[in-house]
Order: sequence, then C-alpha cells, then structure tokens
Amino acid sequence: MKEKILITSALLYSNGPLHFGHVAGAYLPADCYARFQRLKQNDVLFISGSDEYGIAITLSAEIEGRSPKEQVDHYHKMNQSLFDQLGITFDHYSRTTWEGHKKPVQEFFLELLENGYIEEKVTDQLYSDKEGRFLADRYVVGECPSCGYDPARGDECPKCGASYDAIQLKNPRSKVSGAELSRKPTKHWFLLLNLFKERLTHWLSQKEWKSNVVNFIKGYVENLHPRAITRDTSWGIPIPLPNTEGKVLYVWFDAPIGYISATMEWALKSNEPDKWKDYWLDPDVRLVNFIGKDNIPFHAAIFPAMIMGQNRPYKLVDDIPANEFYNLEGRKFSKSEGWFIHLEEFLQNYTADQIRFAIASNAPETTDSEFTWKDFQLRCNSELLGKYGNLVNRVMVFARKQCGANIPAFGTLGQIDKDFLEKIDELTGYIEESFSKYKLRQASRLIMELAAAGNVYFDAKRPWKEVKENPQAMQTTVRCCLECLKALAMISCPVIPEAAGKVWKMLGNTSDIEKQSWDDVLRTPLVEGGPLGEPEILFRRIEDSEIENELEKLRSLNN
Ligand code: 2FM
Ligand code: ZN
Repeated sequence: MKEKILITSALLYSNGPLHFGHVAGAYLPADCYARFQRLKQNDVLFISGSDEYGIAITLSAEIEGRSPKEQVDHYHKMNQSLFDQLGITFDHYSRTTWEGHKKPVQEFFLELLENGYIEEKVTDQLYSDKEGRFLADRYVVGECPSCGYDPARGDECPKCGASYDAIQLKNPRSKVSGAELSRKPTKHWFLLLNLFKERLTHWLSQKEWKSNVVNFIKGYVENLHPRAITRDTSWGIPIPLPNTEGKVLYVWFDAPIGYISATMEWALKSNEPDKWKDYWLDPDVRLVNFIGKDNIPFHAAIFPAMIMGQNRPYKLVDDIPANEFYNLEGRKFSKSEGWFIHLEEFLQNYTADQIRFAIASNAPETTDSEFTWKDFQLRCNSELLGKYGNLVNRVMVFARKQCGANIPAFGTLGQIDKDFLEKIDELTGYIEESFSKYKLRQASRLIMELAAAGNVYFDAKRPWKEVKENPQAMQTTVRCCLECLKALAMISCPVIPEAAGKVWKMLGNTSDIEKQSWDDVLRTPLVEGGPLGEPEILFRRIEDSEIENELEKLRSLNN
C-alpha cells in the first residue's frame, strides 16, 4: 500500500552560503531518501526552507553591511540556486519571513500561553547603553565564569567548553562595539519545558531511533527547565500580546513551525489550500526530520513539547536520522576562517553526481567524517569512473557493435549467468533495505559492488571471444549485462540521478527514470529486440594537478 511520507530538512540559516557540512548533514540524506521513496511509488512531500530570523541573521547582516532583510533575501536566493544545482528535489523550499508563517507561530504561542505552558518573568539581561539595546548572547563576549578565559562567547566557553547564560560572564562587552555592558531588568516569556518531562519520556520510550539521538535525548529530557522564548530585538515574529514592542519570539520558537507553514505555502501554491492538512493532521503519515546533531534537542524534545502543549493534532515526528558532523580536511568548515569550499565554484568544475556520491559514500552517519580532496578524487576516479562508468561504457559499446544495436534474447542460461542474475537480485534487495534505513554509506558501497560484479562477469564471460565461437552465448552474456545496467540505473538513481538517467536512456527508454517504479523496473526484464541508445561517457577523470590546485586554493584562503 502507498505510504504517505512527510520529509523535512532542517531550515537553513539565511546568513551564509550552503556548504558541504550542511549538505552531508541534512540535505543529501533527505534527498536520497525522498527520491528512493518516490521511486517506491509512495506519496512523498519533501519540505525545507530558509531560517530567516534571530541573532545569527542580524549579527551576520551587521558584519556584512546589509539590513537583515537584504541579508536574508541575498542568501535565500543564493542557497535556493545551490540546492537546485545539487539536484535537491524539495517539493517546496519556503522561508520564515513568508507572511503566512506568522499566523501559525502566533497561534502556537497563544495556545501554549492559554494552556499554562508559557510564563512571563522579569529577569536581568545585558544592556548596552552605547547601543541603546539589550544584547543577546551571540553579541556578547567576556570572561568565562568557569575558567576565566577571555574573550569567551556569550553562551559557551571555547576554552573549557562550559555553557552558561551571558549574564554570568565577568566583564561582559559588546562583540560589535566593544562597549561595556550593564545589567538591566527586562520581561520575557518562558516555555515551561519541565511540565512536559513525563509525556516526553513516555513518548520517547516508544522510539527506536539511531543510538546517537536516543542517548543524547534521554539525558536532555532528564534535565528540562523553563526556557526563554522571547528576545529583545525587533527582527523576528512579533509577540501577539499588547505592550511588547521591541521584543519578538525567539528564532528557535518559530523555526520548527516553519515546517508546517512551508507545507501551508506549498498547498497554496498548488492551488489546494487545505492540502497541508493531509500531511500534518493525518496520524497515518510518517514524518521524518533530517537534521545535524546540533539540532537534536529542538526536534526530539522542544518542538514535540510545543506540539503537545497546543490544541491542534499536529503530527509528532516519527524518525530523526540525525547525522554527526562533516568536516573539511580535518577541521570544521568555517567561512570566517577561510576553511570552506565555494560550492558555486565547485559545481563549475565538477558535477552534482560526483559530489553527491563522494558525500554519500562517506556520510557522517555514526561518527564525524570529513571531505578531503584526495578522497573525492579517489571516489570519482576509481569508483564512479573505474567501476560504474567503465561497465556502462564497455557493455554499451560492445552491445551496439555486436547485437545490431538491439537488446538480444537471453538464450540458454549457464550456471554463471544464473548466478550473476541472482547476484543482481540479491544486491538490489540489500540496497533497498539500506535506503529505507537511511544508510547511504552502505547503499553507495553496494551500488559499486553491483558495478564491480558486472565487470567481473563481463571479464569472465569474455564475450569478445564468444562472438567468434558461439554468437548465441555472446548474446546471452550481453543480455545479462544489460539487465545489470538496468538494475544499476534504478538503484543508483537516488544518489547519482544524472548518470542513472543517462543509463536509462542508453537502454532505449524515452521516459524519465525518476518517474518509474522501483519494483516494476527491477522485476520486469528488458524488452527483447528493443533499440539501444548511444553510449555516452558518464564521468571524467579528475587529474592530480586539479586536486593539488584545490588544496593550494584552500591553503591560500585560510591565510
Ligand atoms: O541550526 C540551524 O542551522 C537552524 N537553522 C536549524 C533550524 S531547523 C528547524 F527547526 F527549523
Ligand atoms: Zn572557560
């Protein structure tokens, strides 16, 4: 039966360009999963968007000399285009500054307040007389209350790792102006997370999530305490209460509701304004949130608590395949430190399939992993080109030449042919399981195992000899190889869709592989006598000199 699956990728802050770390954490795994589930003919809705409020935006806008609105417009457009170029197939990519986002956010706030889960409190916060405003933690530096390190960040010490409230810093100063800060009382609203401890614990106890998520969240839920959900700034969703000028809702209060409002915007754009309800209000839908590990508390505890505390029967998340971190050549990606790769430039030199495959094969599923240029070269040259591309090319060139450019009949199958066909079935079964369990590394390895098995079979059968000795047997060999290419196209389609589409066309199809049914394609043999298309080179070799240049570029950016 068709399953309804709602897939979300973390909303991306509109304060900088998308980088491989983001792609590996939340976007590529979600896209491969969405593509796989569409091929399985399930009813998939894949949603994401830009996270456009909060201090992360205003601070970066100030640094880059833009207004917050200019900043989010700039990066929303840039990132949407990068996602397109990478072949990320969102059904809708929204933004939290979309007008329609405000209503559901304010409804959440008012219902939580009315239901007794939000409380108003006056607390001391850091105030800058010079700038005439309260400063949130990211704007503040000072002396770490734990180890004395200075300058420590407003929320966390880079030296000893202690986490605290900015108000606890000694000698707090503004990160922007350097001005000294004083304490001043201000009113804020707090989400009483402690009131959800039992419900969350019970709900979480039924989940069989990845162990990194479960382990982290168990400890987190033990320690729930009220959390401020408003801030003293004007860039955000207004608090829907009188006399709250100069204060807005905290970005992490509105952002996850962005998944819902993005679905509402998608429904409006599809001219079926109520269709979002089919996903968010139907308990039979499976909701999967793809995120990086730093987002676990908000997806596994805080947002579920917000849903539990308001009045609509919104879906609670069913699975959170959170990934670990993806680094660059041994260090964290950092734009400010020049330790990053310009995706736009990257995509001018290499293909989306190449980067998709390199990241998928080395995805940070259970431990942190990293992009290295050497690994990228190796994946592209030995696997994509050496195994996959090589098999497709040699089979297609041979078949076109020796079989009159038509798909030959099976003929009599020998044991080796039967074993090969069985191997194809076995591997495609494993690959299906890998995709359905979000195991991209395993799926990528198995794709190459199938390509390698095809090469081994072709070499063992030596069809170039069979041509002279037994043309019928040669036809059987070619036919088995073409069946392998068909399977390879289908099972690789979620990861390397462009190459998969080309192989599909080479097999004489005029249709779009992405519109096909996984099961039908894998179960139905090719049509005997059908025409074969032109062989096409799928991947180019990446030279050592290119990799040396890239490493040099990275080093010089970092200086
Ligand atoms: O950490 C981040 O990058 C956030 N922008 C993720 C938000 S996810 C969601 F809840 F909106
Ligand atoms: Zn410290």
